[in-house]
Amino acid sequence: MNRTATSEAFSGVAVSAETVFLRDEPLARRTTLGVGGPARYYTEPASTADLRNLLREAARHGIAVFLLGRGSNVIVPDSGFDGLVVRLRHRSWREVAVENGDRLRAGAGVRLRELCGEACRSGLGGLEFLEGIPGTVGGALRMNAGAMGGWFFDLVEWVRVMTLTGEEKVCSRDELHFGYRVCRELLDEVALEAGLRAPRREERTAIRRRLAEFQEKRTESQPKESSAGCIFKNPEGDFAGRLIDELGLKGRRVGDAEVSGVHGNFIVNRGAARADDVLELIRQLRAEVARRKDIELEPEVLLLGAEWREVL
Ligand code: EPU
Repeated sequence: MNRTATSEAFSGVAVSAETVFLRDEPLARRTTLGVGGPARYYTEPASTADLRNLLREAARHGIAVFLLGRGSNVIVPDSGFDGLVVRLRHRSWREVAVENGDRLRAGAGVRLRELCGEACRSGLGGLEFLEGIPGTVGGALRMNAGAMGGWFFDLVEWVRVMTLTGEEKVCSRDELHFGYRVCRELLDEVALEAGLRAPRREERTAIRRRLAEFQEKRTESQPKESSAGCIFKNPEGDFAGRLIDELGLKGRRVGDAEVSGVHGNFIVNRGAARADDVLELIRQLRAEVARRKDIELEPEVLLLGAEWREVL
């Protein structure tokens, strides 16, 4: 650990030299949307033991903890985060292995694209919906990531987690409560690793064909610019993107934050957007949809360190 970068709260924590620990670390560049301020503390632990020590120190000092994956589904406020941001990015969290034919074991830091690639190489079909989701296994567990009709929890058999006080346990699928973009247990526990089951064994050419189809669909229907993915959950029986589109709100802009012209449920960063611009745009979209359609859109993207109801 870099001693000069430690603060009082973490200065006595025993961690290995490979663990990254920083103070006042800018987070914007660690997210896909690219807005927001710094984290008071930022760490990339190199091992389970280091993670445990850091979490226990945070708990001892009452410091809030946030697990950041690829930062593809989160908005960092301009004021940053007055807590500890943990990223499981070290290679020890990035192992993926095929076991017993149709099972995969994947560390929380594995990128979904890598997982998808490994499944394809091993002739395991049914993970293609993960193609193009710019997240990690940890993020996909926390959010029950979904696309193209598939959900991450369709695949999950068990999750190894660590509590914020450093205890480790393995939760089987039926012990976990998951739904639309949420796994409740992971609101305050850290996913370390997941056991997955591929829906089927399949010819690689068939898997590749489906990957290409999904890729094409995504390229056509989602923007390439920096974004945080979909902003709102789809309301019962409709689609947030379709509603925003129908109301002519695509292209609406606050500062450098703009409703994508490609998909109404994406806000893109035109270059120098601030989190406040994005939040103002979200408020405007919600207000218009509520006024003209009588539908309350609820955000699906996370707001780091705050509850949506505090800012909406
Ligand atoms: N639509 C419009 N105009 C738009 C956008 C969409 O009319 O500007 C229509 C489409 O034509 C389609 C319907 O709305 O009939 C749904 O659109 P789409 O197929 O793009 O799916 P979505 O429900 O908007 C969901 C997920 C995405 C995921 C896609 C692809 C949510 C909130 N979003 O989008 O997830 O990538 O399906 O399967 O559930 C994310 O979670 O961040 C995310 C991007």
